[in-house]
This record gives sequence, C-alpha cells and structure tokens, in this order.
Amino acid sequence: MHPFNQTTLGQSPTHVVGNPHTVLPPVQVIAVASGKGGVGKTNVSVNLAVALAQDGRQVMLMDADLGLANVDVLLGLQPRYNLSQVLLGRMGLEDILVQGPAGITIVPAASGIARMADLAPAEHVGIIRAFSELNRPIDSLVVDTAAGMHDSVLSFCQAVQEVLIVVCDEPASITDAYALIKVLSRNHGIRRMRIVANMVRRANEGRLLFHKLAAVCDRFLDVGLDYVGAIPHDEYLRKAVQRQKAVTALYPSSPSGRAFKELARKTAKWPLPSGSSGRIEFFVERLVGSGFKESQESLPFLG
Ligand SMILES: Nc1ncnc2c1ncn2[C@@H]1O[C@H](COP(=O)(O)OP(=O)(O)OP(=O)(O)O)[C@@H](O)[C@H]1O
Ligand SMILES: [Mg+2]
Repeated sequence: MHPFNQTTLGQSPTHVVGNPHTVLPPVQVIAVASGKGGVGKTNVSVNLAVALAQDGRQVMLMDADLGLANVDVLLGLQPRYNLSQVLLGRMGLEDILVQGPAGITIVPAASGIARMADLAPAEHVGIIRAFSELNRPIDSLVVDTAAGMHDSVLSFCQAVQEVLIVVCDEPASITDAYALIKVLSRNHGIRRMRIVANMVRRANEGRLLFHKLAAVCDRFLDVGLDYVGAIPHDEYLRKAVQRQKAVTALYPSSPSGRAFKELARKTAKWPLPSGSSGRIEFFVERLVGSGFKESQESLPFLG
C-alpha cells in the first residue's frame, strides 16, 4: 500500500471554520495510562473507542504516545499528516483526522514533539483554536498515552476528567501503577482514578489485583480508586493485533471483545462534565496550560 494512501476525513487543506454559535454536547474525555509499558493501554484505548462507537456514540481517539505512533501500528493505518502540521499552521485539525473502525475518528500522534510543554505560546493558541473550531459532535474522546511518567502523560492525565489506569498481574505492573498514582495524586491533584485489569486468566483475578493496589493506595495516598472491570487474556486479541485490526471489530464475540463491550457500557454511565468544562477546547486549554506552566517553572529567568 502506498504510504500516503489513507482516508483523511477532510481532504482540503483549506480549513472550514465551524459555526461558533453551534452548541455542542459535553465531551467525556478519558486518558488511558499505566505505570509499566506493554500492559495493553493501546489495545484498551482502541477497543474501548470502537466499542463505544458500536454502541452509537461519536468517538474520537487521540494517539498521545508521542514517542511511538501506537494506534497507527495497531490499526494498520499510515496517516499522512499529524498534529505537527496543525501546529505549524499548515493544516486544520479536520484535515489530519483519519477514519478508524466502526467510524471512530483518530487524531494521529504528533511525532517530533517531545511534549506539550515544549510548545510555544503561539502554538498553544493555534491548537486550542483548532480544537474549538471542530464542528462535529463528539461524545467521547479517548486518549492513549505513553507508558510511565513522562511530562506529556502527566499533562494529559491532569487535563482529562477520567483517568483509566491499566494494570496486569505482574509485580512490576502493580508497583509502577502505584508510582504513577502517587505522582498523579500528590503532584497533580487527581483525587480519583479508575482501574482496569488486563490479561487476566481467572475470573476473580482482576478484582484481587485491584484490592492489592487499593490497599496500598488507601494506606499511603489520598486518592480514591474505582474498579471498572477486567479484560481476559485472549488469543483472539493477539490474532487481531497480528492482523492490525481491533479485536472488537474483528472478533466482537471473543472473550476480550465482550469484555470491551462491557467496559464501554460502564464508561458510558460515568457522569458527564457540565458547563464550560465539558467543551473539548477546555480539555486542550488545560492540557497546554499545564504544560506551559511547567515549562515556565523550569526556566528560572521567568521567575
Ligand atoms: N487481553 C489481552 N490478551 C492477550 N494479549 C494481550 C492482551 N492485551 C494486550 N496483549 C498483548 O500485549 C501487547 C501489548 O499491548 P499494547 O500495545 O496495547 O500495550 P501498551 O501498554 O500500549 O504498550 P506500550 O507501553 O508499549 O504503549 C499486545 O500486542 C498483545 O500482544
Ligand atoms: Mg501503547
């Protein structure tokens, strides 16, 4: 396949500015994070997004793993453009969006931008404007983050309403999840996070895993953890990964496919933000706002 042979949603480089008076419904923004890498964040993000879309919701999936373009690889997409072109003012946000399975819309990762905090103030304005001009209804925005505690991950988690932490039953996954929860709660004021267990091999493994993590967090941290559920270890998911498809699209009735459906059903019941905080540009404002504050603080001459 030609590398540029992709389906972009807006083919024209001239950006059509949305009607500022259109009242769009609030957007539920969910960041998917983990301490340790390789626990299934990208699979959870993609399949949660697809399962929500299969339920009739308008879903946008943002690939925020700025190091490796994970979502693209998982879904076999080769996006021609990404957020970098929007930041450079060469394209509108609509022009870089890519269509994924079940009609989800994907914002490809901006490779080359180490973190949102590295953006210049003029670029902040540009990216906020780009999102606020998006004139399409979005019910859910799912953000797939990088592993660990990079500044970009912390900024994304701080900006969203819902942080979903993926853990699996390995000592490193639990200790690294604890370390991430500690930083997010102590340094970034996040008081509530949701936990999903992945690759579980027995019925109650997920809940036991959650209790192990919650016990330590209750003891040492001021944070509330909610258990959302578990995704079983599933050969169908691995087969889907090999075929560069979402398991929810390729094998919807597989054990993991059904578990993702259940996860989406629960997610859809989480309370929606109200007022101005429910607008998508508000999320982006908070995102770049937190990054900018960080970069100012790290420059002593700015006081
Ligand atoms: N439920 C599951 N059942 C079986 N295998 C799984 C499951 N979830 C994930 N995997 C395997 O783990 C691999 C890594 O998953 P994924 O890429 O989603 O992890 P990640 O946390 O996004 O990794 P990274 O930290 O590198 O971004 C998958 O390619 C797949 O082979
Ligand atoms: Mg990933």
